[in-house]
Amino acid sequence: MTINERARARCAWLPQLDRSRGPLYKALVDQLAADIASGGLKPGDRLPPQRLLADALEVTVGTITRAYREAERRGLVDARVGSGTRVRGQQSSDPAFHHLSRATGDSIDLSLSIPIVTPLRGQQLAELMQRLATRPEVLTTSLEYQPEQGNAGMREQLCAWLASQDLPMAADELLLTEGGQHADFLTLQTLVRPGEAVASDALTYPGMIAAARHLGLKHLPVPMDTEGMRPDALERLCQQQRIRLLYLMPEHNNPTGACMSPARREAIVEIARRHDLLLLEDGVQFVPADSRGLPFYRLAPERSLYIFSVSKILAGGLRFGALRAPANLMPQLSASLRAQCWATPGLPGLVACEWLASGMADALIEWHWQEVSARQALLREYLAGYDIQSHPCSFHAWLHLPEPWRAVDFVRGAAGRGVILIGADPFCVGSQPAPQAVRICLTPAPDRESLARALRQLAELLAEAPPLPAIPI
Ligand SMILES: Cc1ncc(COP(=O)(O)O)c(C=O)c1O
Repeated sequence: MTINERARARCAWLPQLDRSRGPLYKALVDQLAADIASGGLKPGDRLPPQRLLADALEVTVGTITRAYREAERRGLVDARVGSGTRVRGQQSSDPAFHHLSRATGDSIDLSLSIPIVTPLRGQQLAELMQRLATRPEVLTTSLEYQPEQGNAGMREQLCAWLASQDLPMAADELLLTEGGQHADFLTLQTLVRPGEAVASDALTYPGMIAAARHLGLKHLPVPMDTEGMRPDALERLCQQQRIRLLYLMPEHNNPTGACMSPARREAIVEIARRHDLLLLEDGVQFVPADSRGLPFYRLAPERSLYIFSVSKILAGGLRFGALRAPANLMPQLSASLRAQCWATPGLPGLVACEWLASGMADALIEWHWQEVSARQALLREYLAGYDIQSHPCSFHAWLHLPEPWRAVDFVRGAAGRGVILIGADPFCVGSQPAPQAVRICLTPAPDRESLARALRQLAELLAEAPPLPAIPI
């Protein structure tokens, strides 16, 4: 047997290359796309090691490297240190970050971080709209062009509500935005120049990863422990690289649920002051005041931005949020927002602010937190004894899979049992290896009964042995 024949025999995937048209690496990527589309290659399938495929196809390793890189750029595969190049799952190739449920038939989607469906939301909105309908002058004002920082009256209303939630801030420190993602993007776009670096927990919110990538920013992962980013690792990174902004989720990191102690927050502020970092705290995953620590904007107001959004407490479709920033940064941020869209729309702002100010929202939010707590209790009951990290009011939990489960197999096995989950890949900054863990969202299940059914399926799957790995010859 020649080297090439031996390599061909060992390749789990051996593309038929059309060598007559265009560069070879492109032909290889086109064949890869075709095999994925036809179902010949499935999400999670591992592509052959580069040298092996090069030998099998009698091309240079450089051609394969270029092809794999192009396939990654086209979103066909994920390359991770330690686990090779794998065909992307449908979830991670969805650039919209899971905004639509993928549950079909009887399956239950536990992959989305969305508020729990309740008739109360619609009832409250209907009542609010009726009240607003009696105030045409207010409605008309909301239809006018708004100032770029946002309507002053709405900012006042929002500040009053935030103060009731132990988040005191002044109206002129606030810029109204179209939700949390907009505030994330606006901050990076305005305050970090292309080529400069941002840093975050090594596992972080995929919207931040996407924003940094779109803007051509360097995004550096800070190694984590159970409290989130480690100060010693951050200090080392700051000594090696010029970091402009640190992205933080101190209450409960999405996805890992890591929560920062007061001492951890102080340590990070101390490093930020020494290395002159801006701090961007994302408070979108909103939790009650009595289970929250001190936000960074109160520890280091001169360098901290804070993001609020109604997406997790009222409704994501309202697209309404706010960015708190130090006074010296506000002119830049306002000018940037003006250049993007002039101002955020008045009508959703009016609805959101009146909803919060009316007191109705508090009942909805309270109901929601109680329902989330009950669902957290179900999670602890069904998955007792497993390594789970979460916040008692969090929409999601992070399950470290027991040995020898791999996330790709677990996600596939869960889907086979009608439960949709996602693994760590979409949350990984850069090409660092993804931990063998899955995020379990408790809120998209329509009710506790269906959540319990899904959790029972996961418990049964965990008790099984994972499928045997394919053995390449
Ligand atoms: C941490 C975090 N930040 C921002 C967002 C986006 O928020 P919004 O829907 O308000 O744009 C999300 C949504 O899941 C999130 O989890």
